[in-house]
Amino acid sequence: MRNAKDFFTPLAVGAPAPLREIPARPSRAIHFFDPSNAKMAAKIPAMAGQVDVLLGNLEDAVKADNKEAARQGLVDIGRATDFGPTQLWTRLNALDSPWFLDDVTTLVAEIGDKLDVVMVPKVQGAEDIHYVDRLLAQLEAKAGLQRPILVHAILETARGMANVEEICGASPRMQGISLGPADLAADRRMKTTRVGGGHPGYLVRQDPPRGADGTSQIDADRSTYQQDLWHYTIARMVDACAMHGIYAYYGPFGDITDVVACEDQFRNAFLLGCVGTWTLHPKQIEIAKRVFSPSVEDIAHAYQVKEAMGDGTGAVMVDGKMEDDASLKQCLVMVELAEQLAA
Ligand code: GLV
Ligand code: MG
Repeated sequence: MRNAKDFFTPLAVGAPAPLREIPARPSRAIHFFDPSNAKMAAKIPAMAGQVDVLLGNLEDAVKADNKEAARQGLVDIGRATDFGPTQLWTRLNALDSPWFLDDVTTLVAEIGDKLDVVMVPKVQGAEDIHYVDRLLAQLEAKAGLQRPILVHAILETARGMANVEEICGASPRMQGISLGPADLAADRRMKTTRVGGGHPGYLVRQDPPRGADGTSQIDADRSTYQQDLWHYTIARMVDACAMHGIYAYYGPFGDITDVVACEDQFRNAFLLGCVGTWTLHPKQIEIAKRVFSPSVEDIAHAYQVKEAMGDGTGAVMVDGKMEDDASLKQCLVMVELAEQLAA
C-alpha cells in the first residue's frame, strides 16, 4: 500500500515543516459513535487504545437538531482525549447538506491535529474528492497543520459505483473506501430494507430430481442456498482500491443481535480483500478484530511457504500442495498484515 506522505504536497504558507511519517495502521474496526449522545460520548476515552479507529459520526443517524451538538461534542472529545494508538476519524455530513462546510472548517481548525481521516458520504465522482482535497489543503494551511488529513469515501450511490476507479485515484489523500449498503440499496432501488447482510429471498435452489421418464419432478422442498447480495459490489470495490493502492472496507451490519450473520458478512469481505469494517455496537468490535486478522494457522503456513521458497522463485511442495512465486505472493499478503498488526 502506498503512503500518503509520498504523494502529498501541502499548500505552502511560508515554509511548511516536513510532513510527519504516516505508517500504515490497522483499521479492522472503525467504531462509530454519536458525539451528541452524552452517554455514548462519555465512554469514548476508555475505548481509546481498545479499538483501531474511533469515528465521531455527524451524518445519518444524528438528528438534524443535533448536528451542531454532535460537531461540538466531537471537538470536545478530540481535545480532551489522548487516543494513543487509536485513530480518530469523523463521518462528515454529505457535500450537498447544509452542515458539510461548517463540519470541515470547525473540525480542521479545532482538532485538525488529532483527526486522521474524514469519511465523506455519498461520493459521486472524482470531482467530490477534488473539492474536499482542496478545501482540506486550505484549512490545513490556515491551521498550520504538519500532516495531511486523509479522505475516505463511502460508496453508496449508483453513480459513485460507476465511478469507483476514478474516486479511488482522485487524490493522494485517499485512504480507502467503504461500502454503504443501506444508501446504495435505496439508490439502486434494490428491494431489501436491511442494513447490509444477506436476504432469505436472494437464493439459488438445488436442481429438481428427474423422474423415470427424464422430466423434472418439481418439488418445493429442495435445498436452497442463500447468496451474498453484496458480492459483486464488494469485489468491484476491492479491485478499484487495489488498483490505486488504497484500502477497501465493508460497512455497517445493522442487525446488532445477529452476531453470527455479522461475522459471516465480515469474513466474506475479509476473504475478498477488505481490511476492515464499521462497528455499530461494542459487541461487533471483537468480531471485526478477530475476523480481519489472519488466523494463526494462515500466518504459520505463510511463513512456512516463505521459508521454503528461498529466493522466491520456482516451485516447492509444502504439506502436499504446490507452492510457487504466485502463491508466495498470497502468503506475503498474510505476513504483511500479521506484521502490521503486531507492530
Ligand atoms: C451507510 O452509510 C449506509 O448507507 O449503509
Ligand atoms: Mg449511508
